[in-house]
Amino acid sequence: MKQWSLCFRIWHWLTAIAIFGLLGTVLLRKTFLSWRTNSDLIVTKLSSYGVTITHDQAVSIAKAIRAPMWDWHIILGYVLVALVVSRIILFFTQSGSQNYIDFDTKDLHQKAVSTVYLVFYGIIFIMSISGLILIFEDSLGLGESLEHTIKETHEFLFNGIWIYALIHIVGVIIAENKDEKGITSTMIGK
Ligand code: HEM
Ligand code: HEM
Repeated sequence: MKQWSLCFRIWHWLTAIAIFGLLGTVLLRKTFLSWRTNSDLIVTKLSSYGVTITHDQAVSIAKAIRAPMWDWHIILGYVLVALVVSRIILFFTQSGSQNYIDFDTKDLHQKAVSTVYLVFYGIIFIMSISGLILIFEDSLGLGESLEHTIKETHEFLFNGIWIYALIHIVGVIIAENKDEKGITSTMIGK
């Protein structure tokens, strides 16, 4: 059974929390705090009180309600950037490299698992760079079409993140119930 250093275990669980948090902010943005739904609601509710406001005014109120929640996307985004940098450093440790060294000696299943991890790392790397660019886009002056491409890439790779989280958790549960009993404990304690 693999062993993970304390640093690596802390890295793993902080990453899991950061990713769940980021996915949570996206979920809220697209559902309960969607400006489209809420601006319509504001217009209808106010009109039932005899108050008329324009569509644009309602949109700006709906976006203002969403803003403090979305701040958490940025805060957790910075946390993820720090975790990505830490992961690069951890590659130089035994725990951080065990899934990727001596690749030829690993069986097909282990090769597939390691490949999925590497793809995930590639995705969070691109998410971090594109996210940082989106935060500072006004001062970077990249031009509208490049900014648009970066935003599209960031939004598209969001799918890779939730798909990874799903596959990973289901995979760990299956492993736990088949021939890798105790695999979860290895990521919790020695
Ligand atoms: C909440 C339930 C989770 C459990 C029980 C869990 C458990 C584990 C376990 C047991 C391993 C070691 C697998 C091995 O031996 O190769 C592992 C690795 C890993 N986990 Fe999780 N995990 C969870 C959530 C997450 C989430 C949400 C993420 C990020 C989206 C994540 C990212 C990773 C990564 C990237 C590795 C690979 C480590 C390496 O580079 O070797 N995990 N996880
Ligand atoms: C890997 C986890 C991440 C996921 C799943 C994710 C997901 C998303 C999604 C789906 C959007 C588009 C929201 C929409 O317009 O409906 C978005 C926007 C954005 N994300 Fe992320 N993101 C992640 C990481 C990051 C990081 C690391 C940063 C910054 C360091 C960041 C900063 C931003 C910014 C600035 C926007 C633009 C918001 C706007 O246009 O108002 N994200 N993200």
